[in-house]
Amino acid sequence: MLPTTLRDDFPILRETVNGKPLVYLDNAATSQNPTQVIEASRHYYEKLNANIHRGTHYLARAATEAHEAARNSVAAHINAASPDEVIFTSGTTDGINLVANILSLSPGDEILISTLEHHSNIVPWQMLAERSGAILKVIPCDEDGVLDQAAFQDLLSDKTKIFTLTWVSNAFGTVNPVREMTAAAKTHGAIVLIDAAQAVPHMAIDVQALGADFLAFSGHKVYAPTGIGVLWGKLDLLKSLPPWKGGGEMIKEVTFEGTTYNDPPFRYEAGTPNIEGAIALAAALDYVNAIGLDEIHGHEQFLIRHAAAALSEIPGIRLYGPAERACSLSFAIEGIHHYDLGTLIDQMGVAVRTGHHCCQPLMARFGITGTTRASFALYNTEEDISALTAALKKASAMLR
Ligand code: ALA
Repeated sequence: MLPTTLRDDFPILRETVNGKPLVYLDNAATSQNPTQVIEASRHYYEKLNANIHRGTHYLARAATEAHEAARNSVAAHINAASPDEVIFTSGTTDGINLVANILSLSPGDEILISTLEHHSNIVPWQMLAERSGAILKVIPCDEDGVLDQAAFQDLLSDKTKIFTLTWVSNAFGTVNPVREMTAAAKTHGAIVLIDAAQAVPHMAIDVQALGADFLAFSGHKVYAPTGIGVLWGKLDLLKSLPPWKGGGEMIKEVTFEGTTYNDPPFRYEAGTPNIEGAIALAAALDYVNAIGLDEIHGHEQFLIRHAAAALSEIPGIRLYGPAERACSLSFAIEGIHHYDLGTLIDQMGVAVRTGHHCCQPLMARFGITGTTRASFALYNTEEDISALTAALKKASAMLR
């Protein structure tokens, strides 16, 4: 277990809600920022604020240096072969849309996704399929929310041009065997993108060991601000692909007759980026590395197992997802709507997410409209789980 004193780093955890101490269990939606990250944002605006890659004055150079140092930190954190493989985006959704807009497909080509995907890893591919005449195929999952590996092997073929998969399901916490599935897709020559939004906060990432072509994640799920994210892509592949958004920074030379494009990553960073966000993201990664991702993983695994055991005692509860899950615990209590449950426990100071979790096809697979979901971070404690369990028992007694 991590020391509870770490909670002191997160000012928002001292807030009260409806006169009750805040029990924040909606970390899969967004995590809270430690003082170290808030201070990095503040330092940027107090000491460095200027546009980057454009000016010769002191602040422009200092801001550029800090932004590029942040890129180096991200590259080191995910073991990218080069910082040029790190594209700053506004978040996971932005990164996936970028890839879906720079790859081109032909009619009859196939895009393979899974039932566990978030809407942000479904809709961009549907849009690409509509534009190109490609076909979207979906790997089914079983009753535990685990992907059917035999079906996956059957769906893979030389027609599979793109394979994209969430590392960790935001809705059910299922951890997919991404390395093995990437390797299988690669034997058919598919381009592989991994949605690591729910993986990066909870485990060490090594993109070179992973073997995929692209990986996307968001800063705000790993203790950084909203509006910053990362798309990692293999450099040779990025160099061979066209730009998406046009504007400043992504060009080499512009004439009215035509434009030549910059090299990656700048080719994919048109316009003034979220400079402060990138710097704060690097501070967040420094923060988690100082604690240690193995320690964070161990702590969260203890919490999620403890929560699953405690919640199993509640009459009429069904837990979704496999017994071995990461970060997210989804459940329903028989006869009680998830929205009513979430609203009532909020009155008791407990913040969880209710609804379809941006996974309507996954909910449809289970014949439900949504679940209640508790999701964990490094600052959560056994006391948070006791508060959740007590609130759920009280709310279900009131709603019955
Ligand atoms: N993807 C985020 C979630 O699962 C918003 O809540």
